[in-house]
Amino acid sequence: MRPHLPPLLLLLLGLLSTLRASPPPPPKNPRLEAAYIALQAWKNSIVSDPKNFTLNWQGPDVCSYFGIYCAPPPHDPHITTVAGIDLNHGDIAGHLPEDLGLLSDLALLHINSNRFCGTIPKTFAHLHLLHELDASNNRFAGPFPDVLLCLPSLRYLDIRYNEFEGKIPRKLFDHPLLDGVFLNNNRFKSRIPFNIGNSRASVIVLANNRLAGCLPSSLGKMTGKLDEIILMNRLENFTYSYNYFEGEPKSCLGLKAKDDRRNCIPGRPKQRSERECESFLSRPVYCESYGCWPPPSSPPPPPHLPPIY
Ligand SMILES: *[C@@H]1O[C@H](CO)[C@@H](O)[C@H](O)[C@H]1NC(C)=O
Ligand SMILES: *[C@@H]1O[C@H](CO)[C@@H](O)[C@H](O)[C@H]1NC(C)=O
Repeated sequence: MRPHLPPLLLLLLGLLSTLRASPPPPPKNPRLEAAYIALQAWKNSIVSDPKNFTLNWQGPDVCSYFGIYCAPPPHDPHITTVAGIDLNHGDIAGHLPEDLGLLSDLALLHINSNRFCGTIPKTFAHLHLLHELDASNNRFAGPFPDVLLCLPSLRYLDIRYNEFEGKIPRKLFDHPLLDGVFLNNNRFKSRIPFNIGNSRASVIVLANNRLAGCLPSSLGKMTGKLDEIILMNRLENFTYSYNYFEGEPKSCLGLKAKDDRRNCIPGRPKQRSERECESFLSRPVYCESYGCWPPPSSPPPPPHLPPIY
């Protein structure tokens, strides 16, 4: 039986209990609010999520979402921000919305083995802390996502097993920090830029594309600038098998690890048949991209990317 209390006391008790039930709201964190907008836009663009990876992507506490990792940004230990996303092997179908550019503190983005399509949004230009992008084994298409070449922190770029096509941009090999570059198993169709020798990467994998011509002699420049000597010391594994190359510089043969199988290089083992090479290399539409460089009209590439903040 409820004791009979005077109405005023009941009102006071009621007020007290509502006060206790709602603690003061946490201070607003604009970075997490922006992340909320970005992640909700991403969730809305997803058309299939068979493993329920994004099922709990609800409400403002983005740090509790599956696959989202929060941490303080490098120069401010007192705030929390979204620093990493790992949705590897999600089998998720959808695309990357422009709003992902709001995740301006993101350092790691791992979305391999999903069914994302479309391309990498231009707004990725705002991800100035992005260190690792693994978008491999998805359904991305279109030209090489040039926006990634402006990212000043990028060390590891993995877009293998997609359907990117067209040329491999020259700027890729002038990036000052890229250490691992995986472009294999796409539909890139060009010759390799003559400045590949500028790359500071220790691993470059270009296998299984439709690259042709000769490998640029810049790979073999052992004398001259200090940078180029460092490059050759750093490059540990260069894989360009399953293309249509017709020649490679001698210095390639000295690399610790390399794979030149299934090209059209005279005198090397395990090449494509003469017929296969002839039929690929005779298609007139590719003629202009053969021959060895550098093309006389090309200006020398700038030595460094301009810093972008
Ligand atoms: C995903 O969630 C739905 C609805 O809650 C459920 O029916 C389904 O079994 C879940 N699938 C997996 C793989 O957990
Ligand atoms: C070189 O890279 C290729 C492709 O990623 C890989 O299959 C091979 O095992 C690597 N070799 C060494 C010695 O690391």
